Amino acid sequence: MTTMPPMPEADDAAAAMDDAPIDESLVLDHEYDGIREYDNPLPGWWVWIFALSIVYAVPYFMWYHMGDGASIEQNYEAELAAYAEHLIATYGELEPDEATILHYMNDETAMVGMAGLFKGKCAQCHLADGRGNVGPNLTDHAYKNVKVITDIPDIITNGVIAKGMPEWGSALSKTQIVLLSAYVAHLRGMNVPGGKAPEPEARVIDPWPAPPPPEPAPDPAP
Ligand code: HEC
Repeated sequence: MTTMPPMPEADDAAAAMDDAPIDESLVLDHEYDGIREYDNPLPGWWVWIFALSIVYAVPYFMWYHMGDGASIEQNYEAELAAYAEHLIATYGELEPDEATILHYMNDETAMVGMAGLFKGKCAQCHLADGRGNVGPNLTDHAYKNVKVITDIPDIITNGVIAKGMPEWGSALSKTQIVLLSAYVAHLRGMNVPGGKAPEPEARVIDPWPAPPPPEPAPDPAP
């Protein structure tokens, strides 16, 4: 049977340090309660990185916190907005009819793109996830001004000025309004937690119509 060598006692280690010869040329000239310390300077490379990081922080702070420097989040939002514009350009001019809105609300790519536009224009009052703040919750099934799906583009275009919903007909293109309508229709039923309670006048409306069937595949060549 083997036995473990005895662990060195802490006192032994301290005693060994006491015995080590002291290099007086390195000892600093102050002493606190009998404790003296060696001058152990940090390595030059470390001190240089530390100093340069402080120097670098000054223009960084001025550009990103006081100047025009965009944050990562702002860059991301600008990219999302550019992506939405790119998508919109590929769709051509859209009409605010039922089939078009139903088609795009079921188009995942379009909905990802429109999330950025919704966030930019509508989140101020409806919040980015649509659960409502100043404006009503758009993620439940109760609506005040909307009875059928094609009412959505009308409301976005004309607003409900007296109640605080701005008109967007002059600020957004017809196609943007159709796509935002699809986005609003697609938010329905998401019931985002913490959503605003329905307005007293809001009523649960009939479900949206079924989406149009996908375009029939072209007949295979005979
Ligand atoms: C300045 C705040 C504000 C902004 C910005 C805003 N809304 Fe509204 N929105 C409201 C208010 C307030 C109402 C409720 C109107 C009412 O009580 O009749 C509303 C109502 C609506 C409704 C009707 C909901 C219902 O229950 O009938 C829709 C749809 C809607 N907004 C979509 C949008 C979209 C899309 C955008 C962005 C393009 C947007 N809103 C931007 C404040 C806003």
